[in-house]
Amino acid sequence: MPSYAITGASKGIGREFVRQLAANPTNTVLAIVRDPDSPDISELASHHPNVHIIQGDVTDPKSILEAASAAEAVTGGPLDVLIHNSNAVDMASMSSTPTQIPFDSRAVRTMFDLPFSTAIYGGLWTTNAFLPLIERGVRKKIVHISSAMGDCAFIRKSGVSDAVAYAVAKAGMNVQVAKYAAELAPKGIKVVALSPGWVDTWEGEKPEPVVHAQQVMLKQFQTAEPTLKGQIQPEESVKKCLQAIGHLDMGSSGLLLSHNGDTERWF
Ligand SMILES: NC(=O)c1ccc[n+]([C@@H]2O[C@H](COP(=O)([O-])OP(=O)(O)OC[C@H]3O[C@@H](n4cnc5c(N)ncnc54)[C@H](OP(=O)(O)O)[C@@H]3O)[C@@H](O)[C@H]2O)c1
Repeated sequence: MPSYAITGASKGIGREFVRQLAANPTNTVLAIVRDPDSPDISELASHHPNVHIIQGDVTDPKSILEAASAAEAVTGGPLDVLIHNSNAVDMASMSSTPTQIPFDSRAVRTMFDLPFSTAIYGGLWTTNAFLPLIERGVRKKIVHISSAMGDCAFIRKSGVSDAVAYAVAKAGMNVQVAKYAAELAPKGIKVVALSPGWVDTWEGEKPEPVVHAQQVMLKQFQTAEPTLKGQIQPEESVKKCLQAIGHLDMGSSGLLLSHNGDTERWF
């Protein structure tokens, strides 16, 4: 009876992980959310007795430790797969390039705080809180949902120079993952950073600035991948991510993988 815990499960890719995993009644699925009353995840859980909603904020050590205790109470001790998916950014500065970063410490903290809190501190606290459960699990897999935006080779190939704070946070996440993989290898624990592809998780109608920003991104991404047509849906992304997680072994532990299961096909 495999068990999975997913942070940031209220919407987008996190909720899709819950939806697809819940479809197999032999899975135990722990949906970690900041607000357990989020309507979409509550609705999903109401149709699947194998989904357990657990309150947890990855940027709050006490909260995520309590979430791990709650998860332990549900599973009886072990956890097979942890998926640290949570992410937050300062949307107002996403289009800033490095030379546009102001000489203003408060403004720079505003840009970096959210992605660092979720990807870096949140990645550490979530992993450390759930590690005792993973040690007792059978599959022993830890996955941090990252991005090719934090991959230097992809940045060189695509020429994407904006989204500085987000990309730096994901690059830091990739390094943390490699550190965890190195430390936990003797225990047989696999740790990977996984890029889900370019995924349409916008809810509702897209405002014009978002449509424009995505057109700009598409052109940039096409520099790296000329055949790219646009975003994929969460369903396709998560299906491929779950296949990649299924194949994860000690040989790929520590890497940044794409949803296609390799280190090159980011779309
Ligand atoms: N979409 C893409 O194209 C794409 C591409 C590359 C990588 N990714 C990565 O894939 C992951 C999911 O992306 P997405 O597009 O599905 O994002 P999303 O729709 O913005 O969802 C982000 C999730 O993170 C949660 N979250 C934010 N702050 C949190 C906190 N402090 N503690 C716990 N949860 C928190 C949100 O919960 P609340 O409802 O409580 O805010 C939400 O469930 C992210 O790590 C993202 O960087 C996405």
